[in-house]
Amino acid sequence: MSKTIAGFSKLSKEQKIDWLANTHFVNQKEAKAILKQYWNTNDKLQKLHDEFIENTITNYYLPLGVAPNFLINNKLYTIPMAIEESSVVAAASKAAKFWLDRGGFKTEVISTTKIGQVHFIYKGDFNKLEQYFQHIKSALFEDTKSITANMEKRGGGILDIELRNKTEDIENYYQLHASFETLDAMGANFINSCLEQFAKTFKANALEFELFTAEEKDIDIIMSILSNYVPNCIVKAEVSCHVDELSENNKISGKAFAEKFVQAVSIAEKEPYRAVTHNKGIMNGIDAVVLATGNDFRAIEACVHAYASRNGQYSSLTHAKIENDIFRFWIEIPLALGTVGGLTSLHPLVKLGLELLDKPSAKELMQIVAVAGLAQNFAALRSLTTTGIQQGHMKMHLMNILNQFEATDTEKKRLVEHFKTNTVTHSAVVEALNNLR
Ligand code: MEV
Repeated sequence: MSKTIAGFSKLSKEQKIDWLANTHFVNQKEAKAILKQYWNTNDKLQKLHDEFIENTITNYYLPLGVAPNFLINNKLYTIPMAIEESSVVAAASKAAKFWLDRGGFKTEVISTTKIGQVHFIYKGDFNKLEQYFQHIKSALFEDTKSITANMEKRGGGILDIELRNKTEDIENYYQLHASFETLDAMGANFINSCLEQFAKTFKANALEFELFTAEEKDIDIIMSILSNYVPNCIVKAEVSCHVDELSENNKISGKAFAEKFVQAVSIAEKEPYRAVTHNKGIMNGIDAVVLATGNDFRAIEACVHAYASRNGQYSSLTHAKIENDIFRFWIEIPLALGTVGGLTSLHPLVKLGLELLDKPSAKELMQIVAVAGLAQNFAALRSLTTTGIQQGHMKMHLMNILNQFEATDTEKKRLVEHFKTNTVTHSAVVEALNNLR
């Protein structure tokens, strides 16, 4: 049977599923049943989800968990996290509790500027282009008034527009490089609308600019799009305490633990192979909250990793030091987040997540998300530098293995007990389960 199809998007959901099952699956009945099993019985809710994207055939569930006890700038939060990886929520909760008893997290938004660019080709004299830019700049602001009016009323808008000469990189390539304040909105739509208007105004008025030759008048707009790189939309989160307060048991002194921890962070600062895994752990926390609050985790990921490479080598997003026996551990990252617009008012679970966080502003959400990243990194490094990561991981993994083998509740209970004193490995769990059966 042909695996190509014309007009797939025009089919009903049922018809799409029929085509999929008939074309791609041996057991068609089972494939259909699995897909439909995830449909929501509430038709209205299902329709909402169907309409988020194109060609929806079913829903893809991720668990939504919460990590309580986060004390951030003396306010307590329970943080929602949408993530499939076991241990992440447990680690966040553990780190939250640990720092709750040691003054909590301190955070600060350092900047909130976002960027967008109109990329264009101009074949001519740069001096004339500069003169044209100065001549047209106020019109760029003027022509976007209908787009910016509301944002300006609330204190945001277009901050500045610069002409950038990029001809050293690409022949005849220039940019309008604009900066924006988008307040509680992530701002993608606002920025892109402004940029597209800039492009129109910039191109059209060039035709009238008297200093330009015919060729110079012919400005070729390549594209207008926001940048997801926001190195001036930065938040900082920090924890600190006396090294003695880090001692939790008699196995390792607080000072020895702090020193080992700082070493672990230095390794991630210097060694890209480690830095990637170190930052991946941070993103476990960040992405989970970003997703639970309806923000764009791909944009956040792309930006954060570019930022981690800003000095020419990929490096750690967190830093740690000990000074006068005070341990300090902090993160400074770019986060372009929104708490209005997009999914925030559409997805019932996103609305709920934001309400759980006491309806934060975008700035507050930046701080909460940064804390989730820092907490996650603290928990990972604490395990790595003491017990090793597998102990905690495999305990959580045990449940996944048991579910994979469809263990009953009684089997689960007995095996969880058994593995309190035995090492969890895939084969050990399978063997123990077989022994029980
Ligand atoms: C696993 O998802 C994340 C860790 O590998 C992070 C780290 O190594 O720091 C545990």
